[in-house]
Amino acid sequence: LNPKLNTVEIVIQKDFLKDRVSQWKKAGETIGFVPTMGALHEGHLDLVRRAQADCNRIVVSIFVNPLQFNNAGDLAKYPRHLESDQQLLRGLGVDLVYAPSTEDFYTFHPKLNLDFGSVSAGLEGQMRPGHFSGVGIVVARLFHLVNPDRAYFGAKDLQQVAVIRTLVRDLDFPVKIIRCPTVRGSGGLALSSRNARLSPEGIVLAENLFKALQLAAADPSPDPSESIRNSIGFLTNLGGIDIEYMHWVNTETMEIWENPAAPPPEKAVCIAAWVEGVRLIDNLIC
Ligand code: PAF
Repeated sequence: LNPKLNTVEIVIQKDFLKDRVSQWKKAGETIGFVPTMGALHEGHLDLVRRAQADCNRIVVSIFVNPLQFNNAGDLAKYPRHLESDQQLLRGLGVDLVYAPSTEDFYTFHPKLNLDFGSVSAGLEGQMRPGHFSGVGIVVARLFHLVNPDRAYFGAKDLQQVAVIRTLVRDLDFPVKIIRCPTVRGSGGLALSSRNARLSPEGIVLAENLFKALQLAAADPSPDPSESIRNSIGFLTNLGGIDIEYMHWVNTETMEIWENPAAPPPEKAVCIAAWVEGVRLIDNLIC
């Protein structure tokens, strides 16, 4: 039996959070941090379990960060399930859930605008102007408050991981960033809170995104652009999938890989596409 079961602390005040964390630090305990925007699914729970395997104390934040939404409608529509989220985290034996209101978290409107160069220029950064600046600001503020030894992020948001690694390196945050594998449904669809908006047929159709990524990764052509063309051809033939982008990238710089003679040290094929009016992203690291 997990002795910590049902003892999760729900914290709204920054000072309380900082006190609790500093007590743990003084006792020599390591702190694992999983930042989220709530609407938790198995992908988030997997991050928590990985953190529990490595660290003594686990902090999860639930905060829908207005700074990272470039569309007010999207922010208003974002699912909020605080009660059931807390229930799930209690079941896992998390130590502390930090769930501030917007006013508690931002007592003023931040003026900073973060630019991560090539890391945030393409893909999601290009489609969602200001998004990664907002992610960088909230994650930096959360790192100051939680002071974690390790922080866990899903590989599904691959560009977000690269942005946060840049933030940590450039500003010298004493935290190790752990990129965790994407959790998928049985048909291969990457878990996302947006999947709830797909019909059963939409889910089956969306499962082809992962197939297209696998096709690109297995393509015998040495030319990355050729493998992308083949995968796009496969998806286009199915009908019903509207591709926004599909690229090979260098996972560290997030620059598009096009030159067959100069493969990056680690590469991934990334896709963004619309199915039934729902925007989905996914990637496969090779
Ligand atoms: O990935 C997310 O849910 C968010 O972008 C994060 C990292 C919690 C920052 O708000």
